[in-house]
Amino acid sequence: MKSVAILYHSAHGHTEHIAQCIREGLSGLAGIQAELLQAQQLAAAPDELLHHDGLILGSPTYLGGVSAPLKAAMDATGGLWRSQRLRGRLAAGFTVSALPAGDKQSTLLSMFTFCMQHGMLWVGNPILPEQHLGVPYEEAANRLGSWSGLMAQADKASPGHAFVPGDIKTARMFGRHFGETLLRLHAGTSVAQQLEHAR
Ligand SMILES: Cc1cc2nc3c(=O)[nH]c(=O)nc-3n(C[C@H](O)[C@H](O)[C@H](O)COP(=O)(O)O)c2cc1C
Repeated sequence: MKSVAILYHSAHGHTEHIAQCIREGLSGLAGIQAELLQAQQLAAAPDELLHHDGLILGSPTYLGGVSAPLKAAMDATGGLWRSQRLRGRLAAGFTVSALPAGDKQSTLLSMFTFCMQHGMLWVGNPILPEQHLGVPYEEAANRLGSWSGLMAQADKASPGHAFVPGDIKTARMFGRHFGETLLRLHAGTSVAQQLEHAR
């Protein structure tokens, strides 16, 4: 059984809602267990990350970057960085913000850089935007066109009503893709076999 930690901060529940959708995508796979970890918990006990084979970081975008509680959790991993004990594990990131763009890319980039400093392996979001296939924009997977990580847009409604169906679907697909990649990595299949599998 491979374990994935979804480490997130959410002040008003929107990022948490997407974290739960990602977990649903992961949990549909035999051989994967996924756990939600709040940033504040991890900041107090960063070695918890050593119990997981994969890490997915999540944050609301605040002023074009990660929120302070997620950054505090990231900064608490300094000892793990010195010993490089997270090296070789899979990582990915997601962010939620109010605007269609909202500088979410900048948030994902800071997560990516953090994971690269830890020697982790970054998994993107290789889902073709479905609106080009005729799916209505609000129902389309990866409608926001983000390949470096998962983006979702929340309006002011409560978390259960703030997202269009396409963003919920994308979050589940993103979780599933991460889990499948983790399983393939540990199964030791070649890159050629992985590409064949993805077709
Ligand atoms: C301090 C602050 C800064 C924000 N900055 C941005 C921003 O740069 N871009 C954006 O689109 N939304 C921005 N937002 C909106 C949040 O990203 C959005 O409300 C998000 O859904 C909050 O997630 P949460 O419910 O998980 O806390 C900001 C909100 C706050 C409170």
